[in-house]
Amino acid sequence: MWYTTKATELIGIRYPILQGPFGGNLSSVALVAAVSNAGGLGGYGAYTLSPQEIIAVDRQIKAVTGQPYNLNLWVSDMDTVNGSVSDERYDKAAALFRPYFEEAGIPLPEKPAPFHSRFENQLQAVLDIRPKVFSFMFGTLPHDAMVQCKRLGIITAGAATTLDEALYLENTGVDMIIASGFEAGGHRPSFLASAESSTTGTFVLLQLIREKVKVPVIAAGGIASGKAVAAALALGATAVQVGTAFLATEESNALPVHREMLFSGAAKYTTLSRAFTGRLGRGISSRIARDLNGRDEDFLPFPLQTTFMAPLRQAALSQEKWDMVLFWAGQIAPVLKHRHADQLMRSLVEETTAYFEHLKA
Ligand SMILES: Cc1cc2nc3c(=O)[nH]c(=O)nc-3n(C[C@H](O)[C@H](O)[C@H](O)COP(=O)(O)O)c2cc1C
Repeated sequence: MWYTTKATELIGIRYPILQGPFGGNLSSVALVAAVSNAGGLGGYGAYTLSPQEIIAVDRQIKAVTGQPYNLNLWVSDMDTVNGSVSDERYDKAAALFRPYFEEAGIPLPEKPAPFHSRFENQLQAVLDIRPKVFSFMFGTLPHDAMVQCKRLGIITAGAATTLDEALYLENTGVDMIIASGFEAGGHRPSFLASAESSTTGTFVLLQLIREKVKVPVIAAGGIASGKAVAAALALGATAVQVGTAFLATEESNALPVHREMLFSGAAKYTTLSRAFTGRLGRGISSRIARDLNGRDEDFLPFPLQTTFMAPLRQAALSQEKWDMVLFWAGQIAPVLKHRHADQLMRSLVEETTAYFEHLKA
């Protein structure tokens, strides 16, 4: 059957369909359970969580599914040397964002306190939990953590946006590589060259990586139908990772207005911008991203830029100023159909099956 692949055998799941993990509180236990219980692999993005929160979420997941699932972290979680910026840099960014704060009628935030990376402690929590799959982005694991994963039987998957990154990940011993195409919603997980220069589409990236690396490759970006699953498998993917289409389902932790935006005409236009977090990410085009196009030098580095954008987002949401909010979305959003994760899973499986049956006929 089309759905028996290296990935399904390695992970022990029925279908080679992974639900893309979402950081920033958009993942949910209900979504992980719906996908894993339907034979795919649910995923939970935990990079903003404390180790205690990761452990608590894991307990909740285990209470609702006995199937394999994926926990996800960001290997690199800050872009400043000491977690802070100079007063001069802060003042420049504050001047740029002041008009939006005035429009929203809220005060500009103070310069943020230094940020401390959370990755090491989060990593320990994940190793203690021993999920069946541990995926990560923005780099690879430290060597000793990779060795521990192998010893503990945790399957690792790292995200690549270029062939160089895939080769790098393979050299460090990952079990699977996620080929993350430029169509995808959310952050571009580039870690060798700049995200702006790492913008290959999913199906080209998949072919390049398949040709040059030996570990199984998962296609991510722009996949939301059975035909796209079939296309990815035809090009040699061992599985697909579907993000935006699952984000739009009732089970995700997206706000109702975010889901509505994904199903609206607004989703025809998406933009890659650094304005919202300091790292390049794709969401529905917004006035702020448009206005500040080309002003990247003035934004604060990740994650400090959220000092401005978090309160602004809160105010904009409560005042229904949607054009000031970033609604994460991939380019495939305009063709989304399903509002429930189990329906989406069923439809992906049925459509892919029908496609392969049609080829045989
Ligand atoms: C809102 C949002 C948040 C995401 N957060 C993460 C994350 O924290 N870690 C990660 O590895 N991938 C993350 N991704 C990427 C997805 O897991 C998946 O690879 C991607 O969405 C697939 O492309 P698609 O959106 O075109 O389906 C995120 C995607 C979205 C849309």
